Amino acid sequence: MNNEKETGNTSRRDFVKQTTIVAGGLLAMPVLSKANYFSGAEDVIKVALIGCGGRGTGAAVQALLTKQNVKLVAMADAFKDRLDGCYATLTADDISELSGGTGNVKAKVDVPEERKFIGFDAYLKAIPFADVVILATPPGFRPIHFEEAIKQNKHVFMEKPVATDPAGIQRVFEAGKIAKQKKLNVVVGLQRHYQNSYLELYKRKDLIGDITSAQAWWNNDGVWVNPRKPGQTEMEYQMRNWYYFVWLCGDHITEQHVHNIDVVNWFKGGHPVKAQGMGGREVRKGKDHGEIFDHHYVEFEYADGSILNSQCRHIPKTMSRVDELLIGTKGKIQAGAANIVDRNGKVLYQYDKKGENNPYQAEHDELFAAIAKGQYKFADTENGAHSTMTSILGRMATYSGQVIDWDKAINSGLNLQPKTYAWDAPPPLLPNADGYYASAIPGVTTYNV
Ligand SMILES: NC(=O)c1ccc[n+]([C@@H]2O[C@H](COP(=O)([O-])OP(=O)(O)OC[C@H]3O[C@@H](n4cnc5c(N)ncnc54)[C@H](O)[C@@H]3O)[C@@H](O)[C@H]2O)c1
Repeated sequence: MNNEKETGNTSRRDFVKQTTIVAGGLLAMPVLSKANYFSGAEDVIKVALIGCGGRGTGAAVQALLTKQNVKLVAMADAFKDRLDGCYATLTADDISELSGGTGNVKAKVDVPEERKFIGFDAYLKAIPFADVVILATPPGFRPIHFEEAIKQNKHVFMEKPVATDPAGIQRVFEAGKIAKQKKLNVVVGLQRHYQNSYLELYKRKDLIGDITSAQAWWNNDGVWVNPRKPGQTEMEYQMRNWYYFVWLCGDHITEQHVHNIDVVNWFKGGHPVKAQGMGGREVRKGKDHGEIFDHHYVEFEYADGSILNSQCRHIPKTMSRVDELLIGTKGKIQAGAANIVDRNGKVLYQYDKKGENNPYQAEHDELFAAIAKGQYKFADTENGAHSTMTSILGRMATYSGQVIDWDKAINSGLNLQPKTYAWDAPPPLLPNADGYYASAIPGVTTYNV
């Protein structure tokens, strides 16, 4: 969202210099950026990729496909095989499947072995080499990684969700405030904000009057499973099969449905004040299904009394729908159909889908163009944190079966992260003697809120 005014057209070198000075003096200046931006010898925007999986690989390609002079200079992943797989893709001759076009980005990949970092502390080693950091690990790590990137004065592209618990949300908020002070651009991968059809619908949202209710869906078959392998520690197993553990993933209401919830918050211009709902596990019952639910249904209430009915389901052979509907006093916005209708169903506006863009590419095009021009243009942190927190609020409601209040939840200090990140350290949830994990039970699971 371009919700920050540009700061003018200072050159990129001046911009980075200014940013660094605001950041707390020359001592805080990152060494390699200094070499690039102050020696005048190079004019390259350097990128570090943290989390080299599916999305990280895609995001790196998109960054390298922008019109700017961008280079990937450092990579970090918890696992060597994931990093190597990503590197092989990025340096392949043909990446058309990822880029949607011809050609490749290999000439823009400058990551020798000494700038490939593995393990839980890999991010700390990769970030110093960059001007822009891409954060694409499972969301449990986002608060730590984002905090560090901002501390080291980097512009950031970070994937959604931005946390998995309220304590993480607070860390992201705080780092976001510092990013604003330092004028560091932050884009969050809630890409509907960069998608033409949504932007055009948003411009015309007043056609439906006041929004009194909304519906949001992320219903489909579900996602991959990475079964346990012999010799894995419990920590390695959970890291490989991260989708099924709340500390890493947030449950699918947070991991995927956040996109739809975010659209409703965006069009409403705020976040809910409370939530209640129901959910459980009907088919997600195997040993490799960890603890998360396979369905959630939540009634979110906004300050003006309007309701968002949100549903997300991961159950094969059921109705699939990923969509949003906003209902107002004068009509409806139907995101999937990309149109606006009045109360009688007459079409007031139809977006021509031929004009649809690739929002994943647009996020990077806009971010890197701003950085190259020395503009401070993107401050997506607060919105990303609010939308993520909304999904966490929904999860707390479905897990407990109670009405959960926004203020109490966000200030609850609920922290799901392990005390220690190490391969031999215990994750926060352990399996029972039969290898199964306990899930939340509505009416039994409680929060101190
Ligand atoms: N915006 C979108 O539409 C969209 C689409 C897909 C994924 N995503 C988001 O991207 C993120 C990653 O998803 P994915 O599908 O790429 O998952 P993935 O499993 O393919 O990739 C995650 C990578 O992060 C690595 N990793 C885990 N912990 C790490 C740590 N502490 N430090 C460094 N690396 C670590 C993993 O080893 C793995 O390579 C998720 O937050 C997901 O929601 C967003």
